[in-house]
Amino acid sequence: MAGETILVIDDDAAVRTVLTRALMRAGYDVRTGANAAAMWEMAAGGEGDVLITDVVLPDAEAFEVLPRIRKRRPELPVIIMSARNTVMTAIRAAERGAFEYVPKPFDLAEMLDVVRRAIEQRQRGLLEREGANEAEEERLPLIGRSRAMQEIYRVIARLTQTDLSVMILGESGTGKELVARVLHDYGKRRHGPFVAINMAAIPRELIESELFGHEKGAFTGAVARHAGCFERARGGTLFLDEIGDMPMEAQTRLLRVLQEGEFTTVGGTRPIKADVRIIAATHRDLKKLIAAGQFREDLFYRLNVATVRLPPLRERLEDIPDLVAHFVEEATNEGLPRKHFTPAAIDRLKHYRWPGNVRELENIVRRILAIHAEEEIGPEIVAAELEDFAPPQSEALAGEEGDLSQLSAFAERWLQAHFARHGDDLPPPGLYQRVLREVERPLIAAALAATGGNQVKAAQLLGINRNTLRAHMKALNIDMMKLPR
Ligand SMILES: Nc1ncnc2c1ncn2[C@@H]1O[C@H](COP(=O)(O)OP(=O)(O)OP(=O)(O)O)[C@@H](O)[C@H]1O
Ligand SMILES: [Mg+2]
Repeated sequence: MAGETILVIDDDAAVRTVLTRALMRAGYDVRTGANAAAMWEMAAGGEGDVLITDVVLPDAEAFEVLPRIRKRRPELPVIIMSARNTVMTAIRAAERGAFEYVPKPFDLAEMLDVVRRAIEQRQRGLLEREGANEAEEERLPLIGRSRAMQEIYRVIARLTQTDLSVMILGESGTGKELVARVLHDYGKRRHGPFVAINMAAIPRELIESELFGHEKGAFTGAVARHAGCFERARGGTLFLDEIGDMPMEAQTRLLRVLQEGEFTTVGGTRPIKADVRIIAATHRDLKKLIAAGQFREDLFYRLNVATVRLPPLRERLEDIPDLVAHFVEEATNEGLPRKHFTPAAIDRLKHYRWPGNVRELENIVRRILAIHAEEEIGPEIVAAELEDFAPPQSEALAGEEGDLSQLSAFAERWLQAHFARHGDDLPPPGLYQRVLREVERPLIAAALAATGGNQVKAAQLLGINRNTLRAHMKALNIDMMKLPR
């Protein structure tokens, strides 16, 4: 190593001196400057392999000059140091593409370490750029260019620069786990492990021992010492998936660990320092769980330091072409035959509500690639797949008017799922009335809406007596004022 030139910009002569000495001792060349003008002159002029700069300079803030420097020298790593240790400084540093943010006063050894990493990254970056140009696009960890996703990317970019606990919220299949991995892979702890634990997938009585580990003989069946997730994730990230399903006792224990920064194994007595970044995720409404006494509010606030709220796919339908292309590409790499989705097929995919979000889209694309022989995938194939394999939901029926058998097929599927949900038990009694009510209500409301609220016409349309309509409206609590248009 060494031989590289480090630019050091600070109006404080003492900082310049101390840094210069340390850097030179480590074998680097150093050039210093005391203001933004000097920084611009050197950096934009092509000097330096790493730039270290203070934020507040006599003639300008470094942040004002950095974007222009980055434009000219995208490969130049920038290390920001500042005595203004606010989260905003860190965020702005991250936003402007700083390699690292180092609060003052800094430890010289730490600064040298950051410089070394910056040079390493720079060399890697240069090497990668030489060989793989178009590959860059494909390696994107998250697909989608919609506004909703742009916002998410900005939040993620900031969060990768921090060690804050993050709560990822979003419906099933929106990419929560993927985002957790991105936060890890591009974050400060990327060289450490990423350990995921799913609260919904582990028997409740085993969760504490899974999280914190147990000693040999701690309980029946504990035949050997077992390292828990906290221990295995040391130096890395611990992803607590489906946190809403965590049992209360485990919540209490987790909260204590987060407060105290250390944990003990089940059956153990020696406290172990916790060194993990926590990322939690759930598709459930934690506020509701808190209100119902099923989730600790204090734990919620501990975990929810920063929030990433993933939009459902139906709110970013414009991302579907990119996502389809991505999944086709992936599947092709895995050996499935390459196929082409026609624009009409893509359009059909956009007219669907995607209750299972990106995962559902991925599954359907893969199914289509696997089972259809045609090279060109048209809208008929897509429509058939959506009908056959998508879970029942009303939007799947939209646009297919006149075919009442669809309604009946829908009811049938719904009922099958309903019975399945109750497993070996039966659903609560009164099913007949409940189900009919759910059909009657939209039916009557739709008739009233279509006739502008005219009950005589609505009764005619429905083919029932006007008094019967009135009675139904009353029983169903249909409010004339709130009819859908
Ligand atoms: N933006 C995206 N770009 C590419 N692939 C995505 C994106 N979002 C989700 N996926 C893919 O969709 C699938 C589901 O994502 P993931 O498992 O992260 O969802 P989740 O929100 O954790 O779902 P669940 O709540 O059901 O656990 C994965 O295969 C993932 O790779
Ligand atoms: Mg998940």
